[in-house]
Amino acid sequence: MGLMLPMRNKITVVGAGQVGTTVAQLVAYNNLGNVVLVDIVEGVPQGKALDLQQAGCLQAFDSIIIGTNDYKDTANSDIVVITAGLPRKPGQDRSALLRTNAKIVKSVTEQVMQHSKNPIIIVVSNPLDAMVYLAKQVSGLSRNHVLGMAGVLDSARFRTFVSLELSCSLVDVDAMVLGGHGDSMVPLPRYTTVSGIAITDLLTQEQIERLVERTRKGGAEIVGLLKNGSAFSAPGASVFKMIEAILLDKRRILPCTAYLEGEYGWSGIFFGVPVELGALGIDKIIELNLSPDEKKALDKSATDVKVMIDEVDAFLKEEG
Ligand code: APR
Repeated sequence: MGLMLPMRNKITVVGAGQVGTTVAQLVAYNNLGNVVLVDIVEGVPQGKALDLQQAGCLQAFDSIIIGTNDYKDTANSDIVVITAGLPRKPGQDRSALLRTNAKIVKSVTEQVMQHSKNPIIIVVSNPLDAMVYLAKQVSGLSRNHVLGMAGVLDSARFRTFVSLELSCSLVDVDAMVLGGHGDSMVPLPRYTTVSGIAITDLLTQEQIERLVERTRKGGAEIVGLLKNGSAFSAPGASVFKMIEAILLDKRRILPCTAYLEGEYGWSGIFFGVPVELGALGIDKIIELNLSPDEKKALDKSATDVKVMIDEVDAFLKEEG
């Protein structure tokens, strides 16, 4: 008992919904630190935290899980995951969703920053590229401390489809999906491999195109099946991989949504690119050698993202 243990990491998860709860569970099950679950709805984060805490003796974890509606409890967080937001209502256009969630993400970021000096913020709320840009503008944090979760999930979907197509082990497949988190995302078959073998050597062009298309529509396929809700297991596991890379200083190369300052020919936008992720957050952005077709697809996606970024700028101006 006299032994001085290092303080545990503190991970705040804002939004105690499907994705937020999955992240909290994975962090606790893997003993990565204490978790603070925050939500606007009273009782929900408290109830979910208590339930998760009671799994501790069964799953053998020591993490303390707190549920709260008060940002004071998030003080001095190492990592803050923002999943707060509302889903798109039937008939609601993307721009209306952007404004609804922009209000939420702005208020969440402001409250987080009142209690933590220099956290690493991982944004999950949609529309992702716009919401992570908003979090950076509002927090004033440096670009290595603000990132979005999209590429790890989109790549996991591509990896899954490749593995199912080839009937090979999931863990042997690596994939790279860049660009915005929308229909114009850019899966890169040349950088997608099975134990180092490019899939362009293992699958026909027709097969690859089919898997790329399914990846682009990966989120919508699940929404279509669930009817009432969207994916959360793979999104939660993707956020967990990012948290693990940071807290264990793994320096993993993962596709993440990062703020560009000239990389890939773009500045002032958030965009899915390969980054090195470790204790410093985004340590570097890796620029791949792209073919003219790949660059064209990436530019198209960046143009789509830029439209949303402009909408966020207009929103921030209105808000003052
Ligand atoms: N502050 C805190 N929490 C909020 C706020 C707010 N201002 N507004 C809404 N929330 C909470 C909701 O109460 C809900 O518990 O955010 C949570 C969102 O959870 P779900 O609706 O279950 O959504 P989820 O499936 O977890 O997705 C979260 O990630 O993938 C994206 O598009 C998805 O933007 C969505 C986000």
